[in-house]
Amino acid sequence: MGVYELLMNRKSVRNFDGRPIADDVIARLVEVANRAPTGGNIQPWSFLLVQDARARADLAAIVGNQPWVKRAPLSIIFCLDFLRLKRWAELSDAKFLGELSLSHFLIGYADIMCAAQNVVVLAEDLGLGSVYIGTVQSTADEVRARFEIPTYVFPAMLLSVGYPKSTPVAAPKLAAAAVVHYEIYRTLPDAALVRAYDAKYPAVEANAANYLERTFFEAAEADAQEKAGWQDRARAEMRRLGVKTNAQFLFGVRYPAEWMVEMNGALLDTFLNAGFDCFRARAGGEPESESG
Ligand SMILES: Cc1cc2nc3c(=O)[nH]c(=O)nc-3n(C[C@H](O)[C@H](O)[C@H](O)COP(=O)(O)O)c2cc1C
Repeated sequence: MGVYELLMNRKSVRNFDGRPIADDVIARLVEVANRAPTGGNIQPWSFLLVQDARARADLAAIVGNQPWVKRAPLSIIFCLDFLRLKRWAELSDAKFLGELSLSHFLIGYADIMCAAQNVVVLAEDLGLGSVYIGTVQSTADEVRARFEIPTYVFPAMLLSVGYPKSTPVAAPKLAAAAVVHYEIYRTLPDAALVRAYDAKYPAVEANAANYLERTFFEAAEADAQEKAGWQDRARAEMRRLGVKTNAQFLFGVRYPAEWMVEMNGALLDTFLNAGFDCFRARAGGEPESESG
């Protein structure tokens, strides 16, 4: 299969068959991660491989009881690692203040995702499947404590990898025409915008269970107990909020708009706890005082 077909057919895999991944395969996955593009060729990353059954169970529990993290024979915690760079700079009579630099942070985050996506693509080519786990960010304190991740190292992304047990349902996507602009940005007229999203999602129907099965992929693929719990909660919220549109479901039930903003405080704290203070630092490498 060519790269185009490979990428067009890729789907997040959450149902793994339990087969272990051979060491030489894992070595190749790590190699391509480390070969990814990285701003300034700085490689501000560390890849923490989790294979031990106990550790997988702990990790799955920490990131929100996501059963596929436990099922997957391998999870890779992609860490934004400024500690190694700081130490290297220090040992070389230089100074590195990545933890206070928004630029290093943003580029570093992008670097991490380039590395992670290299793994996704090679995994796919080797007959493996994978799923990103974004909740590693909001649970970074616990992840850092469990895996002994030191200050100046932040678990930025998690990827669980394994051999697929079943072929997942393809997630619907917007048509390319709705997201591609030529030469200048052209704002979609309201009707075209709504049409584009209507074409992406199934209509919200009275039978909420049906709807959830087709849109709430994580719940649909969870173990029976979690599945029932997640779907029940989602159904109750849909009823309470009188959900009639896909956007109401997405930004009312799954990612409630105000709640997503309220999370800022806790999220910023997890970065501070890891020594990353680039959100306040303005000049001279010192964070602004609370009052300033
Ligand atoms: C940044 C990021 C975070 C994600 N976090 C999770 C997660 O916490 N749990 C999960 O099951 N899937 C997670 N996913 C997978 C998405 O749900 C999935 O990519 C999306 O539904 C589209 O499906 P597809 O990957 O099959 O195209 C994440 C994906 C990305 C890119």
